[in-house]
Parts: sequence; C-alpha cells; structure tokens
Amino acid sequence: MKIIIDTDPGQDDALAIFLALAASDRLELLGITTVAGNVPVDLTTANVLRLIEVAGRGDVPVYRGASQPLLRPLKTAEFICGPDGLEGAGLPPPKGKAQKKHAVQYILDTLEAAEDRSITLCPLGPLTNIALAFAQRPDLKAKVARVVLMGGARDLGNVTPAAEFNFYVDPHAARIVLESGVPIVLFGLHATHQAMATHERTAAIAALGTPVAKSIHGMLSRHRPGAKAKFGVEGHPMHDPCVIAYLLWPDLFTGRDCHVHVETEGAATMGSSVIDWWNSTKNPPNATVVDVIDDAQLFERLTRQLATLR
Ligand code: BDR
Ligand code: CA
Repeated sequence: MKIIIDTDPGQDDALAIFLALAASDRLELLGITTVAGNVPVDLTTANVLRLIEVAGRGDVPVYRGASQPLLRPLKTAEFICGPDGLEGAGLPPPKGKAQKKHAVQYILDTLEAAEDRSITLCPLGPLTNIALAFAQRPDLKAKVARVVLMGGARDLGNVTPAAEFNFYVDPHAARIVLESGVPIVLFGLHATHQAMATHERTAAIAALGTPVAKSIHGMLSRHRPGAKAKFGVEGHPMHDPCVIAYLLWPDLFTGRDCHVHVETEGAATMGSSVIDWWNSTKNPPNATVVDVIDDAQLFERLTRQLATLR
C-alpha cells in the first residue's frame, strides 16, 4: 500500500511514524509532509527529521507544508507536547533537511503521477495541506484510494468542550476534506481514547531496548497533568498511531458509515464534528467513523512491530 503521512509531531504522531517505518514490508511510505499544529511548522518539520533519523530511515523524503490554518490564526499545543513538540524524546537536532518542494506541491505531483485510487493519505494533524491540495486540483482526488485520518470526536472535545484539536485548529480545512467525496476513515477521540498508553504498555515498549524504544519511553513516561482525573487512567492516548494500525490490522477496529459535518461558525462549537451516528439527517455517509478498538491487541501488535526498528 502506497501512503503519504501528513503530520505535526507531537508524541503520538511520533509513534505513528515509527509504526509505519517498522511496517515497511507492507506500507510503502512515499513521503512525509508536515503541517503547523501541535507546534509551528518549522518545529514539526525538524521533529519528523529527528524521528526518521533515530529510526535509521533518514532516506524518507520530508516536505514542509502549511505554516498557518486556512482562515484562522494558528493555535498550538505546547501545553501538552512541550516547547519543541517532542518533549521527552531525547533526540538530537536533525542532520538532514526537508526537500525544497512545498508539501502541497509534493502531494499534487505524487497524485498526478499515480494510478487512480492508488494513494492512501494519512493525515495526523490539522487538514490544511490536504484541503489545499484538493482545492487546487480537484481532478486529482480520483488518485486517492482513501484518507484515513485522526480528527473530530463523536462526543466530547479535548481543546474545547465541543471540538477536537486537529479539527479545531483548521475547521475550514476539515470541512473541505470531509466534503471532498474521497473515501474517508475517521478516528475521533471517542475511539482513540481507548488506545491508552498505560505505564505497563509503555514499559513493554521500553523493554525492546532499541534507540527508538528508548525515545518512546522518554516521551510517554512524562507526567501528563490531569490525565487520571480526565480519562480515568494515567497515560497518553495514542490517537495518531490508530491511523497506521488501521492500515495494518483492520480487524482490530469496528465502525459505521455516517455523515460528518464540521462546524466552521459556532461561537462555542467551532471545529466540532457533528457525527450523524443514528442517521437522523438522512444525509448520505461521507466517512467510516471508527467506534471500538481492540486496545489490548493493538498494543501487543504495535510493540511486536516496533521491535523490527533499530
Ligand atoms: C490530536 O491532536 C494532537 O495534539 C495529537 O497529535 C492528535 O493528532 C488529538 O486531538
Ligand atoms: Ca497529530
């Protein structure tokens, strides 16, 4: 399967990237594009380079993308990820550099050269780059097999009561992607909060003893203020790795085809995803919304797969 990861690392983005690299026998990672989200785009780009280098995969091309959401000012999440976005990773600055080409141009060029329905896009951050690509060349949407993304929530938000971070940061982009007509698989918070990296699960990864495992342990053993009170368990939700895990092990996930609308106007609901789980509106489905995750198997397989990295 040919994939492009679009990302804003972020500790959970980091695990998603490691998982994709670890599964290179099944996933052909064509390139990684970066976007402003958890931290500004210069940092997310440097972070991707740091991550691929510790994994011994500095050969994967990295493309710097949008520095701002389409219409709103950028809101970042240093309060969760730390000042550089990868607090705890213990990684040196990157040796390599991003490619000269802009991420959006790279996505368009890759789609242009591809067969119909052959490229899987894996957005792990705000959807700015993907929306720009779709808006610029709507004809190239035919080349996309599907978009498997992390964003939205069926119930509670994490950045406002109503909105999940990736959709909140660029709601207009999220709406463009959801209304694009391209097949979409959506991992919202109601699903990804089941993928909790508890102390035991983090310790099992650390026991692999590799440089990558050490870095993961550093990132996920940081104290997460308020986690226990909020989610009932001390640990870090592994939102973004679900996207890559879904490509590898779809049997671990169940969901339902629904219509998803993204709010771009409400004062209290900006960026919220209104998921028509019961088909009240009779609007045709535009996404497969994942609902339940076999989290025990997910962490077992994730840990086993990560063992193949250095
Ligand atoms: C999403 O927001 C980011 O902070 C995480 O990396 C994830 O993509 C969860 O709301
Ligand atoms: Ca992310």
